[in-house]
Amino acid sequence: MARLISVSIDCRNEEVRRTFEEMISRRLHYLIAKGQGTGAVDMLLLELDEFRPQHTFERVRQLLSTAPDLEIFLTASRMDSQLLLEAFRVGVKEFLPQPLTRQDVEPALARFEERFAGKSSSLELQSGKVIAVLGVRGGVGASTVAMNLAVSMQQARRHEPVALIDLDIHGGDLGLFLDAPASQGLTHLTKDISRLDETILRSTLVRHPSGLQFLASGCDAYDDFTFEPGSMMRVTSLLRSIHRHVFIDCGHVLNPSVKEVLDGADQVILVTTLSLPVIRRTKRLLELLSAARYPTAKIALVVNRYEKDQKDLVAETEGLLGMHMAGLIPNDYASASEAINHGKPLTVMASKTPIAQWYLRGVGQLIGEQAEGASASSKEETKGLSLLGRCFSTIGMDVRRKPSVAGR
Ligand SMILES: Nc1ncnc2c1ncn2[C@@H]1O[C@H](COP(=O)(O)OP(=O)(O)O)[C@@H](O)[C@H]1O
Ligand SMILES: [Mg+2]
Repeated sequence: MARLISVSIDCRNEEVRRTFEEMISRRLHYLIAKGQGTGAVDMLLLELDEFRPQHTFERVRQLLSTAPDLEIFLTASRMDSQLLLEAFRVGVKEFLPQPLTRQDVEPALARFEERFAGKSSSLELQSGKVIAVLGVRGGVGASTVAMNLAVSMQQARRHEPVALIDLDIHGGDLGLFLDAPASQGLTHLTKDISRLDETILRSTLVRHPSGLQFLASGCDAYDDFTFEPGSMMRVTSLLRSIHRHVFIDCGHVLNPSVKEVLDGADQVILVTTLSLPVIRRTKRLLELLSAARYPTAKIALVVNRYEKDQKDLVAETEGLLGMHMAGLIPNDYASASEAINHGKPLTVMASKTPIAQWYLRGVGQLIGEQAEGASASSKEETKGLSLLGRCFSTIGMDVRRKPSVAGR
């Protein structure tokens, strides 16, 4: 699902509210909207005013006239068949008798999800694209690539919201790279994931002068930190609902949170270099992703620190990996580290250099039309499959393709 299902509860009965919240929060794709600022919701659990049912029905009519896509679940401790009929006539979609039981709620949610999936293809078109950047090994330049692609995208599309997330829980250098000190980050957002809403998210994002919205990891490099299962999926779903592009620096460790992000991403950019140990690891990683039945169109392999005299080595490596390189980023250690030391993106600090020019051009080629097509087919191919679940599948490797190549 491209975005979370946002649910609001309007109940006087605390027990009913608590039970419904509990059942909803067990399902990964739901988010309970709390307070103001959460925008329109997809579903409302509304309690019938048993003394004045017509008041409730009038409210249902009003709500549906302004939000026709909203689904209203009605709940009451007593209900006669006449009132029930009237409730459905005014547009209520489900009725849940009190006390709420799993036998009543679960099938109602399943029916709702089916209807929602029917509508969500058009919603998916509106939601932003998630681009995960994963280093094949530490130090290959994943953070540099994630940051400079994100900033280049923001520079190219000034009026579109772009976000950059630091999911490297073992390093988390992006705050330094951008000179954007953040007191809070992902760890803060995921502390109580059921409370996450747009207001909390927006107050945790830090705005970079380029316009980019930055979300730090919030982790100390030496913390032994793990996110609750489902947390990253919720955070990215919410992020993509308010940004056109969401870039995520996944570091280089395939931990469960990173796998969750890779599963939900529209595109995965693997950053590699042309040194033997890194090529070997790249092959292993591609095998793993292939065995997990990752659609090849979703993966883009990018060589960092490329030297002009390495053309033959690139061709040889492509043959070995069975995959063409989607981009060759020039080697320029002086510019890359000077930019880091000044807390500035390369495209700002050294915009005329070939490396900065690669980013400015490469972002369009890497995340342009190719990614649009990849996203549609990858969603189809990965339906219902998670990386963890697919990882040890016996399906063979098929990573051959001919993408457009940036930087050749
Ligand atoms: N294209 C490049 N040419 C030369 N050096 C680079 C390039 N890209 C990144 N670097 C340097 O590589 C080092 C590691 O980069 P970093 O982005 O932190 O890697 P990672 O996130 O994969 O650990 C940094 O010193 C950075 O300046
Ligand atoms: Mg890094």
